[in-house]
Amino acid sequence: MFSSDLLAQKRILITGGGTGLGKAMAHRFLELGAAVHICGRREQVLEETAAELFAATKGTIHAIPCDVRNLEAVEAMIDSIWGEAQLDVLVNNAAGNFIARTEELSPRAWESVLGIVLMGTLHCTLACGRRWLREKRRGTVLSISATYAPVGSAYVVPSAVSKAGVEAMTRSLAVEWGNRGIRMNAIAPGPIPTQGAFSRVLPRPELESLALERNPMHRFGTTEELTNLAAFLVCDGSSYINGEVVRMDGGEFLQGAGEFSNLGRILSDEDWRSLKPRKKS
Ligand code: HXC
Ligand code: NAP
Repeated sequence: MFSSDLLAQKRILITGGGTGLGKAMAHRFLELGAAVHICGRREQVLEETAAELFAATKGTIHAIPCDVRNLEAVEAMIDSIWGEAQLDVLVNNAAGNFIARTEELSPRAWESVLGIVLMGTLHCTLACGRRWLREKRRGTVLSISATYAPVGSAYVVPSAVSKAGVEAMTRSLAVEWGNRGIRMNAIAPGPIPTQGAFSRVLPRPELESLALERNPMHRFGTTEELTNLAAFLVCDGSSYINGEVVRMDGGEFLQGAGEFSNLGRILSDEDWRSLKPRKKS
């Protein structure tokens, strides 16, 4: 789909890059010539991922343990990266989430998800953004949101609140920083099987079946689809795209919005024939 040097010379930090979609993006960006930094809380997971991706691609990959909730830790990580060379791209991918009844959430449960998703994204974005502005360098931020951010969703309210904030940040800073060469975009994926997400938000087979059934394509997204879109949005070829949230969900979001969208599930061909007005003889 892309030439193999699409991201050559690009230096990219992916938060939460040790697993799931972050790891998949790291793999794809390495294949396309980027030098990649991955961070997360678990050092061993990061080291194993870095070793695996280096073996697969022979690309330049660095693993940095960092909890994005902690501003000092984020500043130290960004300082250490900048000490070597400046970043071109930040991917805010780290997240925490689980399904729960909202009235049962403890204050720590709220803090935990808001801390990772909203504050972690702000910490990383500002740490990179301030440096890019100071140095008059171009920069690109891509954040991974979720389809429910603009409308909310029952049972994942801390995540919905946080992702809505991430999208507001994306659109706001696209304008505030756009005149100084910084692009801000986001991807809102529908369900893509990863151990981290599915074990927490679709933990039972019947929940997976429900998600498949309500999707017009009756399938989940793939990491390949996600990583190709991500590569496009961070590469120079998309440099006029700023402040966008690109939904990638097979049409699932719109399925829920259309008044008559569910008719296809219950009406058979015979039903449709019988609903047609008969020609008058
Ligand atoms: C209610 C819960 C809970 C649950 C944790 N808590 N899980 N409350 N229901 N299922 C509460 C705990 O009881 C605790 O509060 C507080 O949250 C913090 O929990 P800890 O385990 O101490 O926190 P921590 O170790 O920091 O872990 C953070 C985490 C965890 C968010 C809870 O799940 C995590 O590490 N997640 C990272 C990966 C992840 O979530 N990936 C999925 C992303 S998928 P108390 O008061 O008891 O101390 C996604 C989009 C999916 O974002 C969309 C699909 C379409
Ligand atoms: P995942 O594998 O659980 O990825 C989450 C990553 O975030 C993990 O590597 C985790 O590593 C890291 N992380 C969590 N807390 C952190 C912290 N405080 N500091 C630094 N890193 C932290 O799940 P995923 O499915 O790949 O999700 C990736 C992104 O896609 C998330 O933003 C998620 O909201 C979004 N998304 C996923 C789906 C889907 O269906 N998969 C759908 C919509 C949106 P550590 O635990 O080692 O810190």
